[in-house]
Amino acid sequence: MTVNRGQWSSQVGFVLAAAGSAVGLGNIWRFPYMTGENGGGAFLLVYLLCVICFGLPVMLLEISLGRATQRNPVGAIEKVAPRSSWRALGFLALLTGLCILSYYSVIAGKVLAFGALYARSLVTGGTVTYTGVTPEVLFYFAVFMVLTVLVVVGGVQRGIERWAKILMPLLLVTMIAIIVRGLFLPGAMAGVRWFLTPDFSKITLTVVLNAMAQAFFSLSLGMGAMLTYGSYLSKHQDILRCGVWVVVFDTLVAVLAGFMIFPAVFALGGNPAAGSTLIFEVLPRVFGSMAGGGLVAVVFFFLLCVAALTSTVSLLEVVTAYFVDELSWSRARTVWSVGIAAIVVGIPSALALAGITPWSTVHLFGREGFLDAMDFLWGNLSLAVGSLLLCVFVISRWGLKRAADEIESSSRRFRSLRGVWIFFVRWVCPISIAIILAAKVIGWS
Ligand code: PHE
Repeated sequence: MTVNRGQWSSQVGFVLAAAGSAVGLGNIWRFPYMTGENGGGAFLLVYLLCVICFGLPVMLLEISLGRATQRNPVGAIEKVAPRSSWRALGFLALLTGLCILSYYSVIAGKVLAFGALYARSLVTGGTVTYTGVTPEVLFYFAVFMVLTVLVVVGGVQRGIERWAKILMPLLLVTMIAIIVRGLFLPGAMAGVRWFLTPDFSKITLTVVLNAMAQAFFSLSLGMGAMLTYGSYLSKHQDILRCGVWVVVFDTLVAVLAGFMIFPAVFALGGNPAAGSTLIFEVLPRVFGSMAGGGLVAVVFFFLLCVAALTSTVSLLEVVTAYFVDELSWSRARTVWSVGIAAIVVGIPSALALAGITPWSTVHLFGREGFLDAMDFLWGNLSLAVGSLLLCVFVISRWGLKRAADEIESSSRRFRSLRGVWIFFVRWVCPISIAIILAAKVIGWS
């Protein structure tokens, strides 16, 4: 059934692809707007704690289950616990992947539109105005989805690895250039202070839930992406080292995104709590104040598109791996079908972004607009639930000893951390995630 699934050509290949999945709009669009809405420095602090306490342990857990079973999420569960109702967890992962893919590509389409507008104004010398009307939003959304499909059809190595290898470091360099410009704007230091100084009175249950979910979202955890990528990892590659690298790199990019946005917000008199449009309001003003800003904008939005693409590729890959492994569908047919399904599911989000009522005004789960509601349901709740259930599944069915053995088999350094890791996955993660979710449901604030 699992003929020729492909493997990463090297450890570096896996790290770059997994980092490619992790680094994306989650770091550069979602992290700043979440930080802005949830109290600045206080959110950053809780976020970093969540990355260490939940993110890293669950990351190692997902990769180890993927490598041990060499399957997609549904197949991995089936292999460990045949014909059990745990299968539903695998399907939840696939559904979550599809739904995140749908609205994520809408935002990515907006990034693409900004890149195209700046490129056009470089050539024609005109000013940049984003109208965001429905046909424009739908067009760029569809273009982005097709790009994702084309990469995934190419297969594991040719498609994903090559992209991740070339452009990721360039994105960092461009971000650093934008940060330096922002820091020299008068009044920027207030933003730095706001971002780095935690105001403990701002830490509420909602802030904790959002920070925890942001950690899962940003690290691509809770829906089987790292599990699926781990399944392409060979037995002698070091899971601990790979996992730590991905977590460190992803967190670095998020923190840099904070430095890119908040000094500029304070210097230019913006509102950090502007919501999901934050970066699209702030960055054009930074580019406007920058010598050669138009060119930097083109490079930045192009690279951000690539970063988003390596993330959407992983979302699509998870769902694809299921149909290819378990139902023996052809790869191309699966990828196109899932891509089209994601476009259909994403249309209401696109209409919301284009300001079409009722999509842009509905109130669901305490969020305004269909896109933000989808982000809360799938990007927040579902990833947290998925991570929680994955811990419980491994504890009760596969066994933490087997998981730890899988990691240790290729990482000698893991031996000394084994006990700590087991403690976190057995107690700290499931209990804390369950309490935070339950408290939210009961309605503490
Ligand atoms: N981690 C990706 C980002 O930060 C988004 C993502 C979430 C990708 C879940 C895969 C799975 O942009």
